[in-house]
Amino acid sequence: MARKQRHQNSHGHTSKQLAEQQSPMVKTAMEYHRSGHLDQALIIYEQAYSVDPENAEINYLLAVLNNQLQNLERAHKYIDKAISINNRNGPFYCALAETYRQQHDFLPAITTLKKAISLDNHSVEPHIMLGMIYKSMDRLDDATNAYQAALVIDSNIAEIHNNLGNVYRNKNDFERTIKAYKKAIEIDNRFAGAHHNLGCYLLETGDPYNALSFLRNASQLQADNSLFTADLANCLGQVVVTETDERLRDDLIRCMQLDRVDGGTLAKNVNVFLKQFTPLGKLIGEIEKDIFNPLSPETYQLLVDPLFLLYLEREQICDPELEKILSTSRKIILEMSVLESHSIGPNIERFLSALALQCFLNEYIYIENESERSKLKILEERIHENIQGNSEQLCVVLVYACYRPLYTLHLDNSLMDLVSSSAEASSREVFKRQIKEPLTENELKQNIKQLTSITGEMSSIVQAQYEQNPYPRWLYCDHPQSTSLADYLYSLFPASERGNNNLPDRVNILVAGCGTGLQPIRDARRFLHENITAIDLSMNSLAYAKRKATEMGLENIEFMQADIMNLKDYNNRFDFIESFGVLHHLEDPLAGWKVLCRLLKKNGVMRLGLYSEHARKAIVATRRYIQQQGFTDNLEGIRLCRQAIFALAEHDPVRSVTDSPDFYSVSECRDLIFHVNEHRLTLVQVADYIKQLNLEFLGFEFPDFHTIRKYQECYPEDKQALNLELWDAYEQANPETFASQYVFWCKKIED
Ligand SMILES: C[S@@+](CC[C@H](N)C(=O)[O-])C[C@H]1O[C@@H](n2cnc3c(N)ncnc32)[C@H](O)[C@@H]1O
Repeated sequence: MARKQRHQNSHGHTSKQLAEQQSPMVKTAMEYHRSGHLDQALIIYEQAYSVDPENAEINYLLAVLNNQLQNLERAHKYIDKAISINNRNGPFYCALAETYRQQHDFLPAITTLKKAISLDNHSVEPHIMLGMIYKSMDRLDDATNAYQAALVIDSNIAEIHNNLGNVYRNKNDFERTIKAYKKAIEIDNRFAGAHHNLGCYLLETGDPYNALSFLRNASQLQADNSLFTADLANCLGQVVVTETDERLRDDLIRCMQLDRVDGGTLAKNVNVFLKQFTPLGKLIGEIEKDIFNPLSPETYQLLVDPLFLLYLEREQICDPELEKILSTSRKIILEMSVLESHSIGPNIERFLSALALQCFLNEYIYIENESERSKLKILEERIHENIQGNSEQLCVVLVYACYRPLYTLHLDNSLMDLVSSSAEASSREVFKRQIKEPLTENELKQNIKQLTSITGEMSSIVQAQYEQNPYPRWLYCDHPQSTSLADYLYSLFPASERGNNNLPDRVNILVAGCGTGLQPIRDARRFLHENITAIDLSMNSLAYAKRKATEMGLENIEFMQADIMNLKDYNNRFDFIESFGVLHHLEDPLAGWKVLCRLLKKNGVMRLGLYSEHARKAIVATRRYIQQQGFTDNLEGIRLCRQAIFALAEHDPVRSVTDSPDFYSVSECRDLIFHVNEHRLTLVQVADYIKQLNLEFLGFEFPDFHTIRKYQECYPEDKQALNLELWDAYEQANPETFASQYVFWCKKIED
């Protein structure tokens, strides 16, 4: 990103001299202008103008301000007048060029800037503006020359080096890009934009460890900049932090608080941080020695670590040891809460409500024994008998909420009020998530249309799984910048020919198998679009998706129940179809893929996610283990199976599934290792299907940048990384390559 556009502040450059010559009224307006109070500045400038309309400077200042407010017609009028009064003032021409630039009239902007340079060849301003305009026109050599000319005048302006870095970055000139950004930082170490640019560039070029410190600097220098924090979170998702300093906790908290950061991105580092760099880690030892008491004042203090609480409230905790701390705490607190003599006090509300949120989020995956079940019964009776409506009673209800969702309790009004109006925000959140949201989903479900019936046997079996366990339960997702699909594709596959893809600016999108709505919601934010249709077999998933979309103000996604296999006669056609993690659950994935191809317009594109045979060896071993041991795919079976897997020897291949974040919630664990129907493919098969369907393979999408780079080190001859035979060989040598799925794009070349 370029620093806040300098020319917009350009009056600041000359404002001192200007101010000295102006009336007190104009001086006051300039003060407001400088401090960002633009509305006040405008009122006073206009008053000054009515007193002295022929004053060139006042006209100029009004033009600058109107440029900033994007009132371009007015800006044009004022600057034309300023120039008609004085046609030998360089900054006036810069202001005019800025108006042109904002109107995307680049050629007159260039001519105007050249005029400014001819009037004053000591000013950097017009050169910087020229650089920016050339860059927007993709005239990268001209942009470089313009910035170089600015540097000849003054080589000590950080912004110019930063902007030059942006140009070199577009030219893929690695050395010069790094050097330019570093120079900007050397000149002005507090220049957040340059730290951010350098960090993002290092991340983009596969060096997350070096990127980290720059992204941390950027996010700390501008703590309220959510884009910087989101990029820091993205980087933290690609590294494992091995040492800490006092800033890391703040960074993790700031990232985690952001509601545009994807669930799970930070989990790995938060696990490491909590276990290695806080005393929470020592609680594991206490549990092993059977001396753990979550309610002793010292231990309780550790449990209410702010980062831990935040983690409990918003992410599935995916670490066996932290899970042990939580499930043991839950058990001990339940025991205490049913002992008459040991009433649990209101002072543990904070931890209990966070734990209740966590248990609901992971769909109550923690193992529970008979003794817990019978105690829970006692607790339930007591809740219904003893309606005191006090804060102790509230904690008892929260203990219940750590085991079962509150909506199953049919609370009477006084208890509902107790939870929903607690002074503790996370208790109110328990009410929201465990009572209000399920009710909302039930209501929304009534209005979701059925586009097709569900007739196939396999579709019905798969539907039943996702009705019981909508996948995935998610709270937050990233907030990508909106762009056209064509530009997005170009950013993914820069070697492809931009402009050659014949996609309209605004596209029609179909998300086939949308689950709980992550993909259509991301698509709605990411792509300029006409319509988004999102279909799935599972009504419960669609209701979850609809609730999330409504909460996010995305009312134009149409969620409908449909079976892909029954879309054969559907009349709509789409520019973009996304089907991620779906086709491999169909009885015949190729048949389903064929249906989707028919729904794609000519030149339309698809984004697919399909399971890899090579990458899922450990999953296959686990599925076999589950079959041998006879674990069932219901909640109890999943809990028992997880306990058995946790107890396996460290090196047992089956135990490696505990490394997957999906192992830590019921719907994801079921999807991961208990699925009723999964196919896996090799790239040879994928290539064959692509050929049969007459599609063009556009390339793989990876969450990081190392994989493509490593692949191209092995196969430099495959410049666009599109040769699936070579990719197959590469995957066999590196079976982790497609650990999540084969995620790739393809295009329909013929109708
Ligand atoms: C693993 S989930 C993936 C959900 C979503 N794509 C995501 O990644 O978040 C698979 C989804 O595909 C849906 N699905 C499976 N077979 C389908 C079919 N024949 N027609 C429509 N949806 C189907 C399931 O109901 C389920 O919600």
